[in-house]
Amino acid sequence: MSQPVHHLVTGAGSGIGSVVAQRLLARGDQVWALVRTPGRAPAGCIEVLADLGDADALERIGDLDAWPERLDSVVHAAGVVELGPVAELTASAWQSQLAVNLVAPALLTRALLPRLRAAQATVVFVNSGSGLRANPAWAAYSASKFGLRALADALREEEPLIRVTSVFPGRTATAMQEKVHGQEGKEYVAGRWIRPETVADAILSAIDLPRDATVPEIAIRPGG
Ligand SMILES: NC(=O)c1ccc[n+]([C@@H]2O[C@H](COP(=O)([O-])OP(=O)(O)OC[C@H]3O[C@@H](n4cnc5c(N)ncnc54)[C@H](OP(=O)(O)O)[C@@H]3O)[C@@H](O)[C@H]2O)c1
Repeated sequence: MSQPVHHLVTGAGSGIGSVVAQRLLARGDQVWALVRTPGRAPAGCIEVLADLGDADALERIGDLDAWPERLDSVVHAAGVVELGPVAELTASAWQSQLAVNLVAPALLTRALLPRLRAAQATVVFVNSGSGLRANPAWAAYSASKFGLRALADALREEEPLIRVTSVFPGRTATAMQEKVHGQEGKEYVAGRWIRPETVADAILSAIDLPRDATVPEIAIRPGG
């Protein structure tokens, strides 16, 4: 009998993370879903409650009894956005975006490294087009995502047993994008943007790639 396959997905309660978690569950894999609100994980997941803005809690997260000995993949999908020009961005807006989008994936990955090495895992960082170029009003979010790319690049060189993929989606039709439209004062029409299912396809393709290859980066833009 083949070994069970284990994944951790953050941000599994909504948007891109939720679709990834449900896809993995549907094919019979075991999914640990990191969420901050009880009951938010898709049914069938093993729910791990954590606030990714709480670095002290993340320092201890590797100690949880719940983790499997081997983790085949981690998909870091949780993220937050708060737009504003540099002239107006508050310390709290900077800190929350850097904490959730950058520091949390680093601490979580560090905590799980022995289990990831044991499985020769694939670690996927859900980055953003904003991690490749910074536009006006996007300084804090972009800084967190530029940093996330640096984290991925360094990890890839440090950990020869682990495959590391950064995924850079353009605007995707999720609650986050609806919020961004509100902050930009624009009308939100979900059908204009990438479907979260399409981003999930790209993430799964990186996880499922045969072991003789790795995809360091995938950029996805709205098509049509
Ligand atoms: N949507 C886009 O246009 C777009 C484009 C490029 C990249 N991305 C990236 O894609 C990823 C997924 O975002 P999405 O579009 O799927 O948005 P989403 O539906 O808003 O999902 C974000 C998830 O992150 C979770 N999260 C936020 N803060 C957290 C915290 N402190 N602790 C634990 N979980 C937390 C949220 O949990 P709650 O439900 O509890 O808030 C939510 O489940 C993000 O990294 C985002 O930066 C999105």
